[in-house]
Amino acid sequence: MQIAIDGPAGAGKSSVAKEVARRLGLKYLDTGAMYRSITLKALREGICLHNGTLLAEIARKCNLEIGYDEILGNRIFLDGKDITPEIRSPEINKHVSIVSKSPELRHELVLLQKRVAKKSSGIVMEGRDIGTKVLENANIKFYIFASLEERSRRRWKEMKAAGVVLPFNDVMKEIAMRDSIDEKRDVSPLTIARDAVVIDTTHYSQEEVIEKILNFIKDKSSKFDTRCLKNRTTDGV
Ligand code: DC
Repeated sequence: MQIAIDGPAGAGKSSVAKEVARRLGLKYLDTGAMYRSITLKALREGICLHNGTLLAEIARKCNLEIGYDEILGNRIFLDGKDITPEIRSPEINKHVSIVSKSPELRHELVLLQKRVAKKSSGIVMEGRDIGTKVLENANIKFYIFASLEERSRRRWKEMKAAGVVLPFNDVMKEIAMRDSIDEKRDVSPLTIARDAVVIDTTHYSQEEVIEKILNFIKDKSSKFDTRCLKNRTTDGV
């Protein structure tokens, strides 16, 4: 079972994907955390964030380990150190979309993401290009979004809870900027996969979105089971 969840920044993908994975007993992978980790390392090493060759080299050479915690979701270890809180800082938010434009880096990380999916018996993977590039044959794909104001409001609250208070307008400007970079980049821009279920979460609570997704999955799985059953009957098995 492979479930792809894509959408813009602040749409609530991570919380929803993590919970859907937990309830279905599947592995969970937050691919944005991988781009964030490379951004952190590039900033620490003073590497030009537009140099795709060097960014890809970081991805190949660093030791990026992705663990899992029921409450916190993916825990990210870079070269043996837990960097989970650091990759959510305003500094990383500001630069990560620029880093993730690099085709060379994307190539490396997509390979890694495909490898993780292949090794697991079932996965919920979330990002920007999961349904269109990483898991093109996923069993079910979702694209979740919300209005810019609502996404900014959620991100502002999230940052406040983590002790970072920024002017609301600054948060909104930064999300709008990230949307623009993510949607306009040449390689794997953020788009809706042809076969994705699209959910506007602006007026829904997190629990309502989770329920909707689980219902779609249940519905699709039951159709799949019925089709299998029909094939079995036709084949006389
Ligand atoms: O989901 P997030 O905000 O943690 O993602 C951080 C950045 O990483 C986002 O601005 C775009 C990029 N990203 C991407 O290009 N492709 C993915 N599959 C996941 C994230």
